[in-house]
Amino acid sequence: MKRKLKKQSKVVIIAIITTLLLVLIATSILIWKTKNQNENVNETKITLIDNLDIEVFSEINNLDLIKDIKNGEITSEKEHIDTNTLGKQEIEIIYLDDNSEEKEYTFTINIVDTEKPTITFDKELITTVGNDINLLKGVSAKDNYTKDIKVSIDGDYDFNKVGEYTIYYTAKDSSNNKTKEEAILIVKEKSNDTNNEKPPVVSNNSNEFTTSKGFKGYTKNGITYIDGILIANKTYGLPQSYGPGLTKETQAAINSMAAAAATDGINIYCQSGFRSFETQQRLYNNYSSRDGAEAADIYSARPGHSEHQSGLACDLCSKDNSACINSGFDNSNEAKWLSNNAYKFGLILRYPEGKTNETGYKFESWHYRYVGTELATKLYNNGNWITLEDYFGITSKYK
Ligand code: DAL
Ligand code: ZN
Repeated sequence: MKRKLKKQSKVVIIAIITTLLLVLIATSILIWKTKNQNENVNETKITLIDNLDIEVFSEINNLDLIKDIKNGEITSEKEHIDTNTLGKQEIEIIYLDDNSEEKEYTFTINIVDTEKPTITFDKELITTVGNDINLLKGVSAKDNYTKDIKVSIDGDYDFNKVGEYTIYYTAKDSSNNKTKEEAILIVKEKSNDTNNEKPPVVSNNSNEFTTSKGFKGYTKNGITYIDGILIANKTYGLPQSYGPGLTKETQAAINSMAAAAATDGINIYCQSGFRSFETQQRLYNNYSSRDGAEAADIYSARPGHSEHQSGLACDLCSKDNSACINSGFDNSNEAKWLSNNAYKFGLILRYPEGKTNETGYKFESWHYRYVGTELATKLYNNGNWITLEDYFGITSKYK
C-alpha cells in the first residue's frame, strides 16, 4: 500500500515537472517569436525638405515639409503653418509605422526673413553749383516684413563744386537685410544766361503712352507698366538697381500652385526665381560667349531685360524626376499640368510655343510669370495661350 502511494506521488511529480517544462518551452517559443517579429518591422524613415528655414509670410502646410517617408504612412491632416512670426517653431507629425502603430515625429522649423528692402529713388539728380538739394526727397524704402524703413545716404559730394558724385542710399530691415543702391549727383556749372536758369530738377523720368491695342502705359524710374502690369521684355527693360527679390504675391502663387499640384501627384519647385541684374549679366555673358550673342538672344535675356529681375517669374522643375529647364520638361506631366492649371493661381506660360516673333524668345515650358488671376485667365484662353505682347499690342525687340 505504502509502495503504491510512493509510486503515485512519483507520477504526480513527474507530471508536474513535465507540465512546467512544457510551459517553459512554450513561453520561450512565444518570446522568441515576438522578438523575431519585432526585428522584421522596418524602421520608419522620414525625410524632410532640405531647407527648414521658411520665408516669413510664405504659404506652407505641415505636409509640404516632408519630402519622403519610408516604411510608414503619414496620418496627420494637412495643416497650414503660421509663418507670420519670425523664429523657431516645433512641428508635430503623426504617422503609422510599418507595424501600423501610431507614432509622433517632431522637428523644428525656423521662420526667417531674408528678403531685402527695396528703395525707390532717382538714379540721376541734377543741380547747379551752390544749390543744395534734398537728396532724400522722394526716396522711399519698402520691405516685406519691416514697416517704416528709413533710408540713409552717404558718399563724398560737394554742392559747391562742379562734378559728378556717386551717392549711396542704404536701407536695412529689422532682420539686418541690407540694400545699398547707387545714384549719381550731377552738380552743374551755373548758366550765364540767368533767364534760362532752371530751378534744380530731380528728374522722375515719368512718361505715359498708349499701346497699339489701346492700353495705357507709363514708364517711371525706368520701369514700364501697361494697364498696371510690369513689363520686362526686349523692348522694355528694368534699371540695374531694381531688385525686389521674388515678390510676395509670386511666392504665394507658386506655393499655392505647388500644393494643388501635389494633390494631383505633380511635385514641382521653383528652380530659378528672382535673378539680379548682375546674375543675369553673368548668365547672358556665359551663353553668348558659348553660342554667340545672336543665338543666346533667343533663349537668354540681356541684363536689365530678364523677367526674372522683376521678381515675378519662376522656372519650374520636377521634384520627382530630372524634368527641368532644357532637360525633358516640355513633354513632362509637370509641364502639362502647369499649362492647364497655372492660370488659376495667376501665373502665365510666358513664352508659349510658336510665339517667338511676339515674345522674342523660344518656347520655355518651365517659365511662368505672375500677373494675377484675372489677366492670367484671359491669356490662358482655354489652353491656347496668348502672349502679353499680343494682348497689350507691344513689341519685344532690342533697340
Ligand atoms: N530665359 C529667359 C528669357 C530669361 O533669360 O529671362
Ligand atoms: Zn525663366
